[in-house]
Amino acid sequence: MRILGIETSCDDTGIAIYDNRLGLIINLLHSQDNIHDQYGGIVPELAARSHMNKTVPLIKTALKKSGCSISSISAIAYTAGPGLMGSLLIGASVGHALSFAWKVPIIPINHMEGHLLSPMLDEKKIKFPFIALLVSGGHTQLIQAFKIGYYKLLGESLDDSVGEAFDKIAKLLGLKYPGGSVLSNLAQYGTPGRFKFPRPMVYSSDLNFSFSGLKTYTANCINKQEKDFQTRADIAYEFESAVVDTLVIKCKRALKQTGLRRIVVAGGVSANNTLRKKIKKMATYHQSKVFYVKPELCTDNGAMIAYVGMLRFKERKHSELNIFVSPNWLLSELKNKIK
Ligand code: KG4
Ligand code: ZN
Repeated sequence: MRILGIETSCDDTGIAIYDNRLGLIINLLHSQDNIHDQYGGIVPELAARSHMNKTVPLIKTALKKSGCSISSISAIAYTAGPGLMGSLLIGASVGHALSFAWKVPIIPINHMEGHLLSPMLDEKKIKFPFIALLVSGGHTQLIQAFKIGYYKLLGESLDDSVGEAFDKIAKLLGLKYPGGSVLSNLAQYGTPGRFKFPRPMVYSSDLNFSFSGLKTYTANCINKQEKDFQTRADIAYEFESAVVDTLVIKCKRALKQTGLRRIVVAGGVSANNTLRKKIKKMATYHQSKVFYVKPELCTDNGAMIAYVGMLRFKERKHSELNIFVSPNWLLSELKNKIK
């Protein structure tokens, strides 16, 4: 059983082939960072145009490089949402066209479920139920995962996502887009204690987040300070610490409130080393186990889509030929949509 995965939800074209016995056979990514860098953020129209040019050639390359024949592909999985409408439609259209031509089933995948289950690409033994912290450019969510396809939203950001906050502060610090990992590298040179930023919403008993206040606080601080390297590094350090502390406090609360002892941390921001270390420390202290995917699979990729596609294919959950995309597709709606 072999699944072709197509990921075009946002600004990177990801193509992968996953085999149920051999695992991940090939995983290719065409990054659009250099397209959007000059605008300091994603331009949806340009993202869609790039997907249009890259998706089919990348699939051809994946087949050629891996040596997989078309006839060995059992089904095609594509990201149906959440994401940018124009970008989603490219992956969906290519996926449906190939499904028709190759006479194989087509499977719509929820992008956030892809992130959520991505640690299983490395670590096969994550038992349900578990807590998941999903931190990406578009989302910041705490999820309770009961079984595949059954998820409950415990809390989420009421405004900016963590990735968005990282990218905006990185831009103000003069760093390139997307700024999360660059800001984190700069933070390594920061002096602990020089600045003190708020840890938002940590005293509210719920599991929601808010990062826009911290973002404004940090932006005001940047405006008032000199722009020398050390000051920028010190601000980056304190911003990263404030974000990570907030996420860790809410994860600890989610474990406590649910009584669960397993936590998955996934999405682009889960590549952040400070976050990984601090969540691990908290989880160990609370006799809990934490699961990550390897850093190169934290950000958007076709592998997670092919993997979830394989799980759905095993359950015989395919789609009809009419194209389904849903830019705001919620994880909690999944069990009703995937039949
Ligand atoms: O999951 P992802 O690739 O895209 C979405 O689904 O949105 O996440 C991208 C986000 C960007 O905001 C990027 O700056 C952030 O993940 N990111 C990081 C790191 N690596 C990527 N943020 C903080 N630290 C990192 N090491
Ligand atoms: Zn993503």
